[in-house]
Amino acid sequence: MTGASVPPAPAATIVIFGATGDLMRRLLIPALTNLCFDGLLSEDLRVIGVALREGDDESLRATLDEFAPQTQCWQRLRQRTSYLSGDFTGECVYRQLEQRLGDCDAAFYLATPPQFFGVIVDRLADAGLMDERDGHFRRVVIEKPFGHDLESARALNRRILARVRESQVYRIDHFLGKETVQNILVARFGNAWLEAVWNHRYIDHVQISAAEAIGVGTRGAFYDSTGALRDMVPNHLMQLLSMIAMEPPYSFEAEVIRDEKAKLLRAVRHITPQEARSDAVRGQYAAGEVDGQGIPAYLETPHVQPDSATETYVALKLMVDTWRWTGVPFYLRTGKALAARDTEIVVTFNPVPYATFREAPVAHLPANQLVFQIQPNEGIDLDFLVKRPGPQVEAVPVALDFAYADKFTVAHRTGYETLLYDMMMGDQTLFQRADQIEAGWAVVQPLLDAWANGDGVLEEYAPGTSGPGAAEALIARDGRQWHKLGRGSS
Ligand code: BG6
Repeated sequence: MTGASVPPAPAATIVIFGATGDLMRRLLIPALTNLCFDGLLSEDLRVIGVALREGDDESLRATLDEFAPQTQCWQRLRQRTSYLSGDFTGECVYRQLEQRLGDCDAAFYLATPPQFFGVIVDRLADAGLMDERDGHFRRVVIEKPFGHDLESARALNRRILARVRESQVYRIDHFLGKETVQNILVARFGNAWLEAVWNHRYIDHVQISAAEAIGVGTRGAFYDSTGALRDMVPNHLMQLLSMIAMEPPYSFEAEVIRDEKAKLLRAVRHITPQEARSDAVRGQYAAGEVDGQGIPAYLETPHVQPDSATETYVALKLMVDTWRWTGVPFYLRTGKALAARDTEIVVTFNPVPYATFREAPVAHLPANQLVFQIQPNEGIDLDFLVKRPGPQVEAVPVALDFAYADKFTVAHRTGYETLLYDMMMGDQTLFQRADQIEAGWAVVQPLLDAWANGDGVLEEYAPGTSGPGAAEALIARDGRQWHKLGRGSS
């Protein structure tokens, strides 16, 4: 994680496999340009893009021009960006890379479809490109999805770790690049009052939501074989869960934090086949409207099977079997085409004893809630009860709300800046270790199994709503309700 006085990253070469794809254009190049603007990039950083398509340095640069921030920084980085056309599965491209790289610090960024992750690492290792000689680092950055289920994630980890050390592997979860996600650790462990009440004695339950207002759009082919559970839960939502619920690390060192996060994920109780029916809801959106914009039914999305049973929404209830969280349910939900874009963690505290207020005209004392608002407007809100001015004791909830944008100048960022910078600095805190990845998949595997066995009704829901009615019922059964989507969007 970056600190107060931040040095520029070392002069390295970043080799990006899949250089003609969206990630390179939309996120990686803009993020590197922003880092340069912030003075965090070495003047000698080089980028080599690798892809199958025929082309040369100039043709790659031209595809990036439209997306990079139009600054001097991009003009300088542009000159140091080159192209190598070749097949990732053959050997030729790696021999050429070896010549271009020579002795230098290098990171290989796999922005490719996941079926290439294993073979690229094998070829890099075969060519000796992962050998760290004369103090130079060699790192590999791997995008999501890391595996399709627990077994394939384990197999991929085994394959990669047979060729390179864990300290050379940077598994990306882009949620960890978001400012408010990183802020969870500072908010939790930098504030005495918060940690004091952070347990089952004071907390009633926790909700983690990652709602999107957009539909699947042009990603039908990928999404139809993935679904909301695989796409969002073992990775992004498990990261949020582990940050909000982990034990205090004894230092901010990467391994210490990663140990605590992995421990927490291992403590999540695996749901039984019975609970897969009662404690999880899967839904798929029908045709409708979000914010007045028409949205076709999921089944009408290009490249989606006409009878697809892939879920675009999932809600589930998990228990975490630690002393701290005993008896506290964690409700998770994520979906497409919902009422609002809203990623948040809502912590609801236990109600205070009503006895004190029974003689006062107070019918109901709403529980305090602490909301970590991750998207779209980053901030933290605390719902708080105060007395309405006047002769009577009347309690009303007010919000103590902190918005990042009110306190800090927040420049437009892609979310990849910190991740790229930390990777070049060799800080693995915000990257997933093999055991974290597997613990995340282990949580969802019982659900994948149950659904593959035909359990779990696929509920239809209307776009622009908060999802299927069954998800409301899931939480209502426990006498609770979901936090309204979009509360933090205004
Ligand atoms: C990606 C998923 O990992 O995260 C997408 O594949 C999803 O389906 C996206 O839309 C959400 O990320 P963000 O940063 O837009 O909330």
